[in-house]
Amino acid sequence: MKMNKIIVANLKMNILSKTERDQYLELFQKELAGKKIKNCEIVLCPPAIHLEGFEKAKIKKTKIGAQNMFWEEKGSYTGEISPLMLKNFGCEYVIVGHSERRRYFCERDEEINFKIISALKNRLMPIICVGESKVEKDSGQTLKIISQQVKNALEKISRTKAENIIIAYEPIWSVGTDVIPTENEIMEAKVLIRKILSGLFGVKYAEKVKIIYGGSVSSLNVDQVCLKPGLDGVLVGRESLTPHEFIKIAEIIN
Ligand code: PGA
Repeated sequence: MKMNKIIVANLKMNILSKTERDQYLELFQKELAGKKIKNCEIVLCPPAIHLEGFEKAKIKKTKIGAQNMFWEEKGSYTGEISPLMLKNFGCEYVIVGHSERRRYFCERDEEINFKIISALKNRLMPIICVGESKVEKDSGQTLKIISQQVKNALEKISRTKAENIIIAYEPIWSVGTDVIPTENEIMEAKVLIRKILSGLFGVKYAEKVKIIYGGSVSSLNVDQVCLKPGLDGVLVGRESLTPHEFIKIAEIIN
């Protein structure tokens, strides 16, 4: 079975006002108009405060995702956003375990695993970020780190959920730096992730998990980071702030 590719926009903590949001959405719609992007799922992940606005814009062929969530559904958790809220506000996806959350908010594998379990329970598709730091890469630990993060993230998760899981390989040293891995490095990470998934879920179910790449993706390198190594899509940070560039990436993948 051939799966649709997926292109995710991680808009991070940008788009600072309603005016900026409306401008972004208008531009996005304009850029998308008339483009034939049939074989890709486009997912926009704005800051939570803009989710409703993005949902209301009802951009054709695009789905909405969040950048984070808490694992509890409701209650006294000041400042947090629940999976039920996300679902009720039109989200279908949620990014979990992004390296910026691991770094600035001390998220650990255990909490990331709770979030993934809760997302799946609430019918949100988790986009799970894994990847090594520069120091880990330089000391030859890349595959060990990826392996630990994937296994810990998926602990106690049934293989029947496999088709709702997306794993984003995002080497930390590539996020926001314009430095990208070689095609071979990405291929190695992909093969390893697939192998771990096969160990956890069995080969048949492991095939259902989408594996995508994130880190300095642009229209100039999407061939190298996604198409050539045979990945299922990309997670795009900075370039997603420019709809023209983001849609160009989607067109190339399509
Ligand atoms: P970048 O961010 O494309 O700006 O490197 C990617 C990400 O953090 O998901």
